[in-house]
Amino acid sequence: MKSASRPQSRFRHHWLLSSGITFLNHGSFGACPAQVLEFQTRLRRQMEAEPIQFLWRRYEERLEPARVALARFVGARPCDLAFVTNATTGVNAVLRSIPLRRGDEILTTSHDYNACHNALIEAVRRTGAKLVVAQVPFPVGSADEIINAILKAVTRRTRLALIDHVTSATALVFPIAKLIRAMESRGIDVLVDGAHAPGVVPLNLNRMRPAFYTGNLHKWVCAPKGAAFLWVREDLQSRMQPAVVSHGHNTPRPGYSTFQNRFDWCGTFDPTAWLCVPEAIRWMENTVSGGWSRVREANRDLAIAACRLLCKRLSVEPPCPESLMAAMATLPLPAHFQSRPRVGKIDPEQLWLYDTARIEVPFFRAGEPLRRYFRISAQIYNTLGDYEYLAETLLNPAA
Ligand SMILES: Cc1ncc(COP(=O)(O)O)c(C=O)c1O
Repeated sequence: MKSASRPQSRFRHHWLLSSGITFLNHGSFGACPAQVLEFQTRLRRQMEAEPIQFLWRRYEERLEPARVALARFVGARPCDLAFVTNATTGVNAVLRSIPLRRGDEILTTSHDYNACHNALIEAVRRTGAKLVVAQVPFPVGSADEIINAILKAVTRRTRLALIDHVTSATALVFPIAKLIRAMESRGIDVLVDGAHAPGVVPLNLNRMRPAFYTGNLHKWVCAPKGAAFLWVREDLQSRMQPAVVSHGHNTPRPGYSTFQNRFDWCGTFDPTAWLCVPEAIRWMENTVSGGWSRVREANRDLAIAACRLLCKRLSVEPPCPESLMAAMATLPLPAHFQSRPRVGKIDPEQLWLYDTARIEVPFFRAGEPLRRYFRISAQIYNTLGDYEYLAETLLNPAA
């Protein structure tokens, strides 16, 4: 049944999502509730009414409470956190800040995100270091398989490992705490790409304590676009350089570290997405009874239920155990899609799903041997009926 004529989640009206769309791709860019956007509009009006007060004289009066609210949400000290505009920026900042030399190795995995992989390629080109890609199997049977595949690629030259907390195309929750401990015991710093983690898995960065952690807030925390953070372990902060050098390099502020001076201002921009983070955290906490822990649980339960439904209807096997899943699931496309060749930037069947059925779902190629997959997201505005409609549509591609 098409979206407009199906029973909707009682939360759906809080989002601006168009009524004709079956939106199963919260993972790519998130989606921001209307009330949080209204809050942002109010902030923008204040910014335009008094640009100097807002962006300069009284900037910290708004920024600091946002940082404190974020710190509470991710289990961190405010002094270890800087806002950035997205996780790609966080990864780039770390890669330009760490000393790398010819002969050093950076480790990543075959599940890393393309934009971050490109940043790694650029870092090794600039420094003469070598990029080593650990081949993590997909389908994958257990967390131990992931750990073993990554540790197998470690050498005595490995200096830094970029490891996703929740992978993008394959939607796996990596056993990140164990991986950090295993790397650290070998003297290797870990940069965690947590683009998908905040709002999906509980975070306690004080306890996790990797060298670096970057996460998006515009995805699963539902903040406006352009809200993300970089957490850096205290002993590494003074060497951190943002991707853009601005006033903070020679303009100290009392009470702030060099790290925060450099990152809090990277040239004129609109900081309102950062300033909306407390509102986004509060909005979800107050809207769903049980707050954030219930949101995470409900989204994971829905993703698992959807995964079971789709596997049954499409006669496909899940590519990972449910213990490695959170609010997303990546599943093989049914057999009749597998033989189709790739044409152009976007798979024609993904376009067809949107054009004919208004279903928003990303397609990927992954694993060894390479197979075609699709990824579903589950957010509180979704219902199981959304995935039933997807199953029906995938089963009748000519319809
Ligand atoms: C694992 C991972 N890393 C990084 C990113 C990049 O996020 P952004 O485009 O917000 O920088 C994404 C986006 O989907 C991602 O999935």
